[in-house]
Amino acid sequence: MLEKLNEIERHGLDALRSVQDEGGLESWRVAHLGRSSALTQLFNEFVQLSREERPAVGQRANEVKKALETAFAARSEEIRQAKLTRSIEQKRLDVTLPGRRVPLGRLHPDTRILRELYRIFGDMGFQVYRSREVESDEYNFQLLNFPVGHPARDMQDTYFVESEQHGDNPVVLRTHTSPGQIRAMREYSARNPHHPPTVRIVLPGMVYRYEQVDARHETQFDQIEGLAVGLGITFSDLKGTLADLARRLFGQSVRTRFRASFFPFTEPSAEFDIECFLCGGKGCNVCGGGWLEIGGCGMVHPGVLSNGGYDPEIYTGFAFGLGPQRIAMLRYGINDIRYFWENDLRFLEQF
Ligand code: FA5
Repeated sequence: MLEKLNEIERHGLDALRSVQDEGGLESWRVAHLGRSSALTQLFNEFVQLSREERPAVGQRANEVKKALETAFAARSEEIRQAKLTRSIEQKRLDVTLPGRRVPLGRLHPDTRILRELYRIFGDMGFQVYRSREVESDEYNFQLLNFPVGHPARDMQDTYFVESEQHGDNPVVLRTHTSPGQIRAMREYSARNPHHPPTVRIVLPGMVYRYEQVDARHETQFDQIEGLAVGLGITFSDLKGTLADLARRLFGQSVRTRFRASFFPFTEPSAEFDIECFLCGGKGCNVCGGGWLEIGGCGMVHPGVLSNGGYDPEIYTGFAFGLGPQRIAMLRYGINDIRYFWENDLRFLEQF
C-alpha cells in the first residue's frame, strides 16, 4: 500500500506539471483529490489493513494528500500570475493619454447678469428684496392703480391660478415685479407708521405673461424692479440712476434714451432704452429700430405711495422695472431671448 501511495503522489505531481490553465486545474483536482480519486479510494480501503499497518500507511497517506494539496495551491498561483502578466502585456495602459475631462457646471447667463446688477445696485445703496411669484390680483393690479377692467391690463396678458379665491381678486402669476413695491412699502412703513423709513431696494425675480413668443419676448422672464422712496426724490434722480447703471454695464460712451410712456402706477412714466450693440443702432430682429427697450420707469404715483403707507404730501419716489435678459442680450451679444430657457448646452457652454 505504501508503494501504491508513492505511485499516487508521483503520478499526481507529474500530471500537475503539465496543467496550463484554470480548466486543467479543476480537472486535475477532481482526478487526484476528488471523491473518486485513487487517493480517496485508498483511504476507504484502510479498514482492510491490520492494526499494525495502519499508523504507517495512515501517516503516509496524509503526507501524500498534503503534498498534492500544497502542489495544487502553488500551481494555481503560478497559473493566476501568468494570466495576469499576459493580460497586462496585451492591454497595456498608456499613462501618457490625457485624462477624461470632468464637465464643470457654470453660472447661467441670467444668473450672471443678475449678480452683476445686484453688485452695481448694491454699490449705489440698493438692497435686494424678495417678493412672491404667485400674487393676488389686488397686489398685481388693483393697488397699482389698475382697477378691474382697466385697459392697461391688456398690456400684461395674465395667467390665472385656479383657487378658492374668486370674484374680483383671483390668484395670478405675477405679470411684473411691481406688486413687490406695495409689499415692501407696507413692510417698511409698518415699522414706523408716522415716520416711515426711506426705501432703496431692488426686487428681482421671475414674471409670467401669456405672450406671443419671439426673439425678444418670452412667456416667462426675469425682471428687476427698483424702488426709491424718501424726501425730495425727483425724476432727475431716476434718470441719473438708470444712466449711471447703463454706463457701469456698458461703458462711458453708451447711449441711452427716455421715451414718454404710460404706466398706471407711475406719473410721469417713461421707457428706458439702450442703443443696440448687436446692430450698432442700425436696427435688427432683436431691437427693431436700433434701440432696445430695457425697462419702464417713472415717479411713484401718489395713490401707490399711500397704498404702501407713505404720505404722498411728504414722500416722493421713483421706480423702474428692467428686463435683465434684454440686458444680457446686449452684454453678451445674444440675438434671441428663447436661448435662455432652451437648456441647449451649446449655448450655455459659451458663458
Ligand atoms: C413693466 O412690467 C412695469 N412693471 C415696469 C415698471 C416698473 C414701470 C416700475 C414703471 C415703474 P414692461 O411691460 O414694459 O413694464 O416690462 C418691463 C421690461 O421687462 C421691458 O422693458 C423688457 O425689458 C422686459 N420684458 C417685458 N416683456 C417681456 C417679455 N415678454 N420677454 C422678455 N422681457 C420682457
